[in-house]
Amino acid sequence: MNKQVKGGLKPGDARSVGPSVQQIIDRDGDNPPAWFRENSYEFLGDGDLTVDRYISQEYHDLEMERMWSRVWQMACREEEIPEVGDNVVYDIGDWSFIIVRDGADSIKAFKNACLHRGTQLRAEDGSVNQFRCPFHGWTWNLDGSLKEIPCKWDFPHVDEEKFSLPQVKVGRWGGFVFINMDKDAMPFEEWLGVLPRHFSTFPLERRYMTANVRRIMPCNWKVAQEAFIESYHVVEAHAQAMPVTGDANTQYDLFGDRISRLYTQPGVTSPHMAPLSEQDIANIMMQSPRLKKPGETDALAPGETARSRYVGALRRDLEERFGADLSSLTTTEILDNIEYFLFPNFFPWFNFSLPLVYRFRPNGNDPDSSIMDVMLLHPVPDEGPRPDPAPLKILRPDQSFTEAPELDQISAIFEQDVSNMPRVQKGMKMLEKGVTLGNYQESRLRHMHRLLDRYVATPPGEPLRP
Ligand code: FES
Ligand SMILES: [Fe+2]
Repeated sequence: MNKQVKGGLKPGDARSVGPSVQQIIDRDGDNPPAWFRENSYEFLGDGDLTVDRYISQEYHDLEMERMWSRVWQMACREEEIPEVGDNVVYDIGDWSFIIVRDGADSIKAFKNACLHRGTQLRAEDGSVNQFRCPFHGWTWNLDGSLKEIPCKWDFPHVDEEKFSLPQVKVGRWGGFVFINMDKDAMPFEEWLGVLPRHFSTFPLERRYMTANVRRIMPCNWKVAQEAFIESYHVVEAHAQAMPVTGDANTQYDLFGDRISRLYTQPGVTSPHMAPLSEQDIANIMMQSPRLKKPGETDALAPGETARSRYVGALRRDLEERFGADLSSLTTTEILDNIEYFLFPNFFPWFNFSLPLVYRFRPNGNDPDSSIMDVMLLHPVPDEGPRPDPAPLKILRPDQSFTEAPELDQISAIFEQDVSNMPRVQKGMKMLEKGVTLGNYQESRLRHMHRLLDRYVATPPGEPLRP
């Protein structure tokens, strides 16, 4: 018997049994900012998604031509290029860009190609005081202006004023650098939508990378990112979390066309199992010795919940470890797993204990392969110098996330997610129907594909189709 769907509901209106995220926030008894109280879902239809979008070369080519060429995409962290001349190479499909700090507070993005015969000017991240082509030595200044052409006498037809390196647009938010190849792109601030407001108590620019790990995934970039976009898979893929994770009662929000949110709460038993007592939940959550207060008994006081005990301990622990004052933050802000998505591929988490960021993109032009980047962003201490960011660690395809110890306890969970990906990619090729989605729990996938479809349907140079 399925208790979760009651008769008479419109598609998309059904919800899991168990308390909702908002009811749990009510029970926490503190008063988070308004955006944590927003509940923003819309039924977007229930038709299958076509499979070709995940497996066909034609669809990949359309994505490159019509979507990636027109969207704001996260290219790097500012902290990766702290000094003038520091640069990062950002590749997407066939395209390559140099992101360079060309002044104390100026960052530019250039197409990574020599204007003589096309050689890539930069093959890897690094630091330079000019861009000198390794083939014949044509050289540009950091601001992109042409500096030198060897044997200039042979190029009387080259107008130096017109031979600056072509730039693409740059946007900066939260310590991230975004680029956009479209000269008519939507202003970056508009593109960010609700994000600056929703992250105002979690300033990402005041954080630094304690992990920066990259891995090639044996699947389409959308298959990879969709393994991290819903909590529906927790019951099967991460069953160990169920005693203390509200998985099926996760809240999903859709904000405008480009942004969505997943809101999963710890300290609540999964609706898939009989509820544990508050004491039992607390006992599981408080296992780390770091969370124990000297002299405190494990028994909850009357009226105390597992969440209230845990948030007190976590607040103390985080304040000690990072020298931060978290006293003004509410339970949900400190405790909950709130994952945002910004179209097409950027996932910043609002999560104090596991401050993750994901980025997914195609690996070259292979629809069966993708690049996943995972970062952890911990707070910069209030005093003392800004710590150096963790160097980029690139895992070989045969390596596991568990070989990146800087990812801490999350790597084993990632392995549970990753193990399904090649099976999804292969199995999809046998599907004679499309991909079927849940109306609520998989609404963020549909929301993402709705906008992707609009880009893919719009020929270059035309306004985005409705
Ligand atoms: S290709 Fe760059 S200097 Fe010739
Ligand atoms: Fe997962």
